[in-house]
Amino acid sequence: MDTDKKLSGISWQDFKALPLTEKGAYFDGTPPHTLIAQQFSRKKIRDLCALATRIKRINKRREGANFLKTLLCDKRAMLYFAQPSSRTYLSFNAACQILGLDTMDVRDSSTSSEVKGESPEDSVRTFSSYADMIIMRHPKGGFAERVAWMMAHTKREIPILNAGSGADQHPTQALLDIYTLKRSFEKIGGVDGKNIVFVGDLARGRTVRSLAWLLTLYDDVTLYFVAPESLQIGRDILDLLDAAGTRYVVTDDFAAVMPDADAIYMTRIQDEWDLRGESSSIDTSSFRIGAEHMAVIKDSAVIMHPLPRRQEISTEIDNDPHAVYWRQMRNGMWIRAALILTTFGRQDEVNQYYDDYKPEP
Ligand code: CP
Repeated sequence: MDTDKKLSGISWQDFKALPLTEKGAYFDGTPPHTLIAQQFSRKKIRDLCALATRIKRINKRREGANFLKTLLCDKRAMLYFAQPSSRTYLSFNAACQILGLDTMDVRDSSTSSEVKGESPEDSVRTFSSYADMIIMRHPKGGFAERVAWMMAHTKREIPILNAGSGADQHPTQALLDIYTLKRSFEKIGGVDGKNIVFVGDLARGRTVRSLAWLLTLYDDVTLYFVAPESLQIGRDILDLLDAAGTRYVVTDDFAAVMPDADAIYMTRIQDEWDLRGESSSIDTSSFRIGAEHMAVIKDSAVIMHPLPRRQEISTEIDNDPHAVYWRQMRNGMWIRAALILTTFGRQDEVNQYYDDYKPEP
């Protein structure tokens, strides 16, 4: 870690102006914060994924589950979700339970003192008085970073985990997506060299934006961005890919790229970000996948989705071997448990337990 790079040692204006690729070094302090995809190295991802698998295996047996529950039984986590969520909220909550961490939540700002005029910053500072970690989802892009910076300027800095911010970042979703890709491709050479096809609303899907960055850490991958023109991936992400030397193709022809895909990452239309209902006039009929496509894709190809879905994946293929989106969702619980444990610096105890007892896969 570069010890000069401390959130407490930089003004908010200077920090905000940094490129994403330089911000990450500020989040590795004590405590570490998880805020953007750009803060992860390939080694960190590998360690988190290995730990997630170990936690999963240990948790299968009652004595292992009991051991895990002792690890963070002296800690409390605050789940602050100012935007709707099913999977991220529940998987973080379940991850906390696996590790014995008590949780509290505010899932709707209208039930907090924000309705009395309290600022979101003061709300979060209030949460930090009672919790040892804040896991937060917020509609405002960059707000989780602002909170981490603010925490670093208090006497009680606690870790912030970004569970989705604005339309810009969803770093823990990107981690569970990479974990799913790594597990899916375990027997066929891993993520390196694979063709990853993103389909749907790529302009406003924060999961795609975060995952596209993590994929730059792998060798010889090609990213395909398949969307109608008005929903195509942002220039800012393409600039990051250019700078990282990652190959990509921007197209609206899903049928043409389908046979080459190793992973097809579907996304829904994010019309909650519409200003005037503009999504309703976009023809998305050629950006869906169903039973008729199963003969076209590679035998080893996987179909993913951050969920929730609408019509872009037919329910007919839910039990097809290519469909991994339900497993992907469950993987979120294990990788988030690994992240929480690592945030508190307790991963070595799990690794030691695993080496001592060697639980069955
Ligand atoms: N993938 C995801 O973020 O789902 P939720 O919005 O249900 O948390």
